[in-house]
Amino acid sequence: MDTQTDRRFLVTPGATGKGLSGRLQVPGDKSISHRSIMLAAIADGETCIDGFLEGADALATLTAFRRMGVTIEGPDAGRVRVRGVGLHGLAAPDAPLDMGNSGTSMRLLAGLLAGQAFTTVLGGDASLSRRPMRRVTDPLGLMGAKIVGTPDGTAPLTITPVPRLHGITYPMPVASAQVKSSLLLAGLYAQGETCVSEPAPTRDHTERMLSGFGYSVRRSGARVCLTGGGRLTGCRLQIPADISSAAFFLVGASIAPGSDLLLTGVGVNPTRIGVITILRAMGADIELLDPRTVGGEPVADLRVRAAPLHGIRIPVDQVPYAIDEFPALFIAAACAQGETILTGAEELRVKESDRIAVMADGLTRLGIAVEPRPDGIRIVGGRIGAGTVEAHADHRIAMAFAIAGLRAAGPLEVRDCANVETSFPGFAGLAAAVGLDIEECAGGCCV
Ligand code: S3P
Repeated sequence: MDTQTDRRFLVTPGATGKGLSGRLQVPGDKSISHRSIMLAAIADGETCIDGFLEGADALATLTAFRRMGVTIEGPDAGRVRVRGVGLHGLAAPDAPLDMGNSGTSMRLLAGLLAGQAFTTVLGGDASLSRRPMRRVTDPLGLMGAKIVGTPDGTAPLTITPVPRLHGITYPMPVASAQVKSSLLLAGLYAQGETCVSEPAPTRDHTERMLSGFGYSVRRSGARVCLTGGGRLTGCRLQIPADISSAAFFLVGASIAPGSDLLLTGVGVNPTRIGVITILRAMGADIELLDPRTVGGEPVADLRVRAAPLHGIRIPVDQVPYAIDEFPALFIAAACAQGETILTGAEELRVKESDRIAVMADGLTRLGIAVEPRPDGIRIVGGRIGAGTVEAHADHRIAMAFAIAGLRAAGPLEVRDCANVETSFPGFAGLAAAVGLDIEECAGGCCV
């Protein structure tokens, strides 16, 4: 086994009684980082980005645009300077574009590249090559795009030029910001109006950022529309800290007695704060301090203190608002008094891993009673045992189980953690700085 797949965390439950304490700024928001590069690249003029996430997923997007002829300086301590080439200035890459582990890169780029005058092939790693792509290729096909995947509807995707795309009105069957964004990006190149309506509200970073680049986006109720053929104008962007990365610390500080942690500059876009709503409903003590707007996105400092949690029935309407935070929330549920029930979350089965199956397996190994269901799970709070769990190369599973170590009966080893780099480079170091006893190991020895 090579050291990448063998990368693992070893967490020892805290003996200090202080839990997680101090002040912490987690890295920049992944969703917003992807979009910042995409829109800056096709804008007219220069865009200066601060707070860019230097994780493998966002870097896959950045590299893809470099390979399509865009001059991009950085990232350097989160700063990136992009010389936009305008809506029609991208050049054909000389080989397939590698999207790595990143579903957001692949699905959003499928839309953006459907409108180009050259062919592209989008590929990814084993996990991404298993994930469903028809959710974007089917509606893009309705717009006139020519995209061919595998017979299973998965990547690699070959996108060939068409004379023109045309706008459609598309009611999305699943609540997906990636699908919505993919269609809106294709809509920039389409004749007429492209409208997408969502069955439940999903993150709206694409719409906000398009407006920030001066592109008119119209929302009425569940429907968002734009008209093709406009132009984007380069601008300055400040990317907030990622609430999806902060989530591990919101849960960690809630479950570890003695904790008092301040997470600074966290994005609190209303379409992303399900983790706060759900944790509060479980009894968590989370305060939003100094709310402000940064780069068109709401931001706050989050103070979280340890609190006794109790199980709840998670409201189905909160699922899209917390879609990436369930691995962490399952750990909260495992530490809560009583049972927690999640329904309406079948999407978790097609994330970087099958997050219902993988979390159920790990929690069971640690002695927690769980009942996985097709669209969710039932978790009965209990005592987390010591032992070894598998992250299945899923970044959020790895970090969730690392945080579980705060309440484990003994040392907890999490295997296959290399992909934490996709969304949260430096996780172990930052976690250690606020009190998690964590070692990162590769091969036979801890580093
Ligand atoms: C994302 C949207 C979500 C989320 C993913 C990032 C985005 O996926 O799970 O990590 O940046 O648009 P869906 O839109 O497919 O639910």
